[in-house]
Amino acid sequence: MQTRLPEPGADERAHSDRLLQLLREQIASHGPMPFSQYMERCLYAPGLGYYSAGKTKFGEAGDFVTAPELGGLFARCVVNAVQPVLAMLGDGADFLELGGGSGSFAEAALLAMAAAGTLPRRYLILEPSADLRERQRERLAAALPAALHARVHWLDRPPEQDWRGVLFANEVIDALPATRFAMRDGEVYEEYVALDGEGRLARIDRPADALVGGAVRHVERDLGGDFATGYRSEILPQLPYWMQAVAGSLVAGLMLFVDYGYVRREFYLPERRDGTLMAHYRHHAHNDPLHLPGLNDLTASVDFTALAEAGNSAGFGVAAYLPQAQFLIASGLQQAFEHAYESAADEPARYRLAQQVKKLTLPDQMGERFQAMLFARGLDAVPLAAELLAADQGGRL
Ligand SMILES: C[S@@+](CC[C@H](N)C(=O)[O-])C[C@H]1O[C@@H](n2cnc3c(N)ncnc32)[C@H](O)[C@@H]1O
Repeated sequence: MQTRLPEPGADERAHSDRLLQLLREQIASHGPMPFSQYMERCLYAPGLGYYSAGKTKFGEAGDFVTAPELGGLFARCVVNAVQPVLAMLGDGADFLELGGGSGSFAEAALLAMAAAGTLPRRYLILEPSADLRERQRERLAAALPAALHARVHWLDRPPEQDWRGVLFANEVIDALPATRFAMRDGEVYEEYVALDGEGRLARIDRPADALVGGAVRHVERDLGGDFATGYRSEILPQLPYWMQAVAGSLVAGLMLFVDYGYVRREFYLPERRDGTLMAHYRHHAHNDPLHLPGLNDLTASVDFTALAEAGNSAGFGVAAYLPQAQFLIASGLQQAFEHAYESAADEPARYRLAQQVKKLTLPDQMGERFQAMLFARGLDAVPLAAELLAADQGGRL
């Protein structure tokens, strides 16, 4: 598969070599590193990781396209879905976006909120990548009217004070460093990245510690059976702690996570024997996470049952869980499309709108591979649209 991947330019290769050198030094001095730590370095090592270095990641010129990068329809539907909650919470409500990417969602969402008359008091962005944060700043400063731009604030860490409002994250959970585990003779092993005799990166397995072992046993108990020898997959043992950290202070409001993934019994299908880990390099998907570290996006699908458990343990109830296509349709996609279509400047713009709807909703594109999960806490009633609640598939979790 690797032979078909595009060749990096000299600068890109030098960049990857710098990260490789850092990884080699760390492994040489501290021993093999858990795969999750390797993934964390590859994505977020300051100045070198995929999300921390100045590479174009999103859109046609990058490595992958996310729903907000396709155009404004996705953000308009998200705003339609959450605006009753913002309206109910009133003037003090904030909107917190995790992982703002290029800033495309924030731009379209703020314009849609202004048009709907439900602007949050503040639009907060929690973005760990300094490079992306800078891109978001530049984009929003150029694209938004001053009064809207004044509401945008970047956070260095999750809010510590209690707050009310809406927390939103598109394709963030899939970018959290994943632990890889493997089963051997009934024992749980964890995947590590080591150096082989010639100093090349190599994947090895070591007996899992209590945290990883316990997380895997919990999944086995929930599924009602043990994983077979040779089975390998991903798990996020830190997810409940992460959820508590990012959402623990949201005392009243809604959370919305959109990502690709499955309910647990589909995530851990017996035949999915090597997990869901994927690397993306210039619109090529491949399965070698050791290839050109720092130049590839590394992601794993989301176990939405685990996400629901993490939300529950942080004090939230699942309000709805449904495929992205149904979520968008129940949140006014048709009207948003018609409105945009009528005001489109020309035929190419109308064509792009139609393509946007297809990519967002067709089952083999984002429509069914992506899921939306809504959580609520501290609300007397959950003011979500009846169509959205009617399409809820939370019973599958
Ligand atoms: C695949 S990109 C998605 C970007 C954007 N939401 C979109 O849909 O285009 C993942 C984003 O999550 C951010 N991210 C990763 N870990 C995060 C965390 N722990 N908290 C908040 N954002 C995070 C990354 O820096 C990046 O902006």
